[in-house]
Amino acid sequence: MNEKIKIWGLGIGPGDPDLITLKALKILQAVDVVAYPAPTDGDSLVRSIAAPHMSGDQEEIVISTPMVVERHPAQDVYDKAAVKIGAAVEAGKSIAILCEGDPFFYGSFMYLFARLSENYLVQVVPGVTSLAACSAELALPLAARNDVVSVIPGPLEEEALERQLMATNTAAIIKVGRHLGKIKRVLEKIGATSEAHYIERATMKNQQITPLSALDGDSAPYFSMIIVRRSGEILSQ
Ligand SMILES: C[S@@+](CC[C@H](N)C(=O)[O-])C[C@H]1O[C@@H](n2cnc3c(N)ncnc32)[C@H](O)[C@@H]1O
Repeated sequence: MNEKIKIWGLGIGPGDPDLITLKALKILQAVDVVAYPAPTDGDSLVRSIAAPHMSGDQEEIVISTPMVVERHPAQDVYDKAAVKIGAAVEAGKSIAILCEGDPFFYGSFMYLFARLSENYLVQVVPGVTSLAACSAELALPLAARNDVVSVIPGPLEEEALERQLMATNTAAIIKVGRHLGKIKRVLEKIGATSEAHYIERATMKNQQITPLSALDGDSAPYFSMIIVRRSGEILSQ
């Protein structure tokens, strides 16, 4: 571990505790303090992923985060967390901030990074993303040769979703949640339902895989993704 670095953004992987990198594991076990987000009314998922690797005698900072639908939580959560983490660094402690998947792949860690990196050296350790995990668990290669892969957030408006889907070979639709009904409608419209694969909680104990055509309802858990793989030419060309 580089002694000069006191703050680490650790990618912990998508769910299976074995999908942590050796580098993240070594840092996780060496730091004085472990910080992680947790919903105000529940347990921290990312801590539960890291838990089998933790001795239990490290100091912990819980970044209590209200789960506000569609908006990243109030910025003062990150302001306060940055102050706490800064105080620990000033006291000479080293800190790992746990991030589900990869810290810089749609991770809220980036809000903390923006604040902390103004005053401190912050090192990011990449993690296995949910994109890689979902592709592997679905046994669905993402791309070959000149294929284009797009990550498309489910909350996009219907028209934007359709446009993005039409401009790519492989689409990974993330943040499906309450947008499932809209996503299904758009995929049906462009004739891609049969090529769409739904997976929730990839690599976690309660992982589920369903062809989209067999998936009921208009909402899905937060940790879910739809991968649409269309081979050949980009559709709009
Ligand atoms: C805020 S992003 C965080 C992504 C994370 N930093 C990563 O590297 O994968 C959250 C979205 O990622 C997807 N996701 C994360 N983990 C997942 C998992 N284990 N299974 C399926 N989808 C997952 C879901 O679409 C979820 O809505």
